[in-house]
Amino acid sequence: MKLFTGVVGAAVVAIPMLFSTAAVADGAALYKSKGCAGCHKADAMGQVGPRLAGQMEKYVLEQFKLIRDGKRASGKSGMMKGAVSKVTDAEAAEIAKYVSGL
Ligand code: HEC
Repeated sequence: MKLFTGVVGAAVVAIPMLFSTAAVADGAALYKSKGCAGCHKADAMGQVGPRLAGQMEKYVLEQFKLIRDGKRASGKSGMMKGAVSKVTDAEAAEIAKYVSGL
């Protein structure tokens, strides 16, 4: 019984670690978990926010940072700013790579 508890305990610790490592590396997962899909749609073809699919990676990353940091306040940027304030540069780079490849 002691052995069993030990194995289960190790698995409970190891599984979330695997997931969090994967989430940082995977642009597709980040796109969903960081809420982008909620406004730009699951396929990134646009809805509340414009289409991101197929846009140049560099452009997506630059515009993302400008909006997040409040340096681009055009149109409806304000509604996105609050939702993405905690997304890091590294995470945004992965997301930009992902949507530009769609
Ligand atoms: C609350 C809704 C919302 C969320 C969540 C959101 N966006 Fe946006 N996004 C918008 C809106 C609205 C615009 C258009 C801003 C404007 O009017 O200029 C936009 C614009 C953009 C642009 C500029 C596109 C262009 O053609 O210039 C990029 C890049 C972008 N979003 C990336 C993201 C990423 C990446 C995420 C997730 C981390 C995200 N957005 C989450 C609503 C959202």
